[in-house]
Amino acid sequence: MSVAYGIEVKPKDDVYIQTAERGVYPLTVAAVPGSFLVDLLPILKYVPAWFPGAGFQTKARQWKRLATDMIELPYAEAKKNIAEGTCPPCFTSMCFEKMNSGTSDDAYREDIIQGAAGTMYAAGSDTTISGVASCILGLLERPDVFKQARADLDRVVKKGHLPDFDDEASLPFITAIVKEVLRWRDIVPIAVPRYLENDDQYKGYRLPAGSIVIPNAWAMLHDESVYPEPFEFKPERFMKDGKINPETRDPAHACWGFGRRICPGRYVGFAALWVSIASIIHVFDIEKERDEQGKPLELSHEYVSGIVWCVYSIVS
Ligand code: HEM
Repeated sequence: MSVAYGIEVKPKDDVYIQTAERGVYPLTVAAVPGSFLVDLLPILKYVPAWFPGAGFQTKARQWKRLATDMIELPYAEAKKNIAEGTCPPCFTSMCFEKMNSGTSDDAYREDIIQGAAGTMYAAGSDTTISGVASCILGLLERPDVFKQARADLDRVVKKGHLPDFDDEASLPFITAIVKEVLRWRDIVPIAVPRYLENDDQYKGYRLPAGSIVIPNAWAMLHDESVYPEPFEFKPERFMKDGKINPETRDPAHACWGFGRRICPGRYVGFAALWVSIASIIHVFDIEKERDEQGKPLELSHEYVSGIVWCVYSIVS
C-alpha cells in the first residue's frame, strides 16, 4: 500500500487491506486452469446466467465488483492526497508527476496508472506473505538454521537497529534462506498458465492454438538432479565456504515465471522477503508450540491451494 499508493496501513482492520484481500482472493482461485469449465469451453459464456451450471456468470459479476473496489478505492485516496500535497513519494505520485510534466508517453494516462498500481498491490502482497509464512515453517523445522541465522545477525547488525540492506552483503546465510524458501515452497508453483492464440511448436511437439500451457515451475525447483533432497528445507545448499555457492542453481530460473511475462516485481519481492525474514529472525524466537507434557507439536504443512499458495495453518 505504501509503495503503490503512499498509504500507511493500520496495524489491524485496515479498510484498504480488507478491500484488497477481497479483491485478490478471486484472482488466485480463477487463475487456476480447470477452476471454471468456461475456460476450456468458451462457448459456455453465451449460456444465460439462470441456466443450471452457469453460476460462474453471477460469480464473475460479484468478483468484478470486488476487483474494481480494490483498484479504485486506494487510488482515489492517493489522488486526493496528491491534490492536497500530503501524499508521500510512491508509484502513483511519481506517475502523476510524470503525467503532469506533459510527457508524450502514452503509459502515463490515468486509467493505466490506476490499473498498474492495482496490479502491483494484487501481485505483490499475497506472494510476499506466502514466502514469509513458508520461511517461518522452514525455521520451525530447522532450529539449527534459525540459530545460525540469529548468530550471524547478532554479529553484523548494529546494537539497537533492525537489519537493513547495508547488511545484506555481510549476511549471505539470510540470502541463502530466502533462496531456499523461493525454491522449497515455490510461491507460484505453476506460474501463470498461457493460452496459445496461434499454433506453435516446442522440441518437435505441436501445440495447437487454443491450448493452455502450464509452466511446471514446481517440478523445476524440485528436480533432485539439481537440488538433492528437494523436499527438505536446506538453505545450506546455497552456501559454500561462508559465501553464496555459485554452483547451486539460483531458483530465479523458475520462481519468478518466464519470458516476457516474468515477474516485474522480482527485485522488490526478493528485497521485501530478505528484510522481513532478517528482521523476524533478529527480534523473535521461533520454536514449535508444545503440548501439556512439553512435547513439541508437529506441523501439518497444510497449504491453501491457488495460483499463489499459502500456508493454511502451521500447527496441526
Ligand atoms: C516473493 C514475491 C513474489 C513472487 C514469488 C512473484 C512471482 C510471480 C510470478 C511467478 C509471476 C508470473 C510470471 C509469469 O507469468 O511467467 C508474477 C507476475 C507478476 N508479478 Fe510477481 N512475484 C512476487 C512479488 C511481486 C511484487 C512485489 C510485485 C510488484 C511490486 C509483483 C508484480 C507482478 C506483476 C505486475 C506480475 C504480472 C506480470 C505480467 O503478467 O506481465 N510481484 N510474479
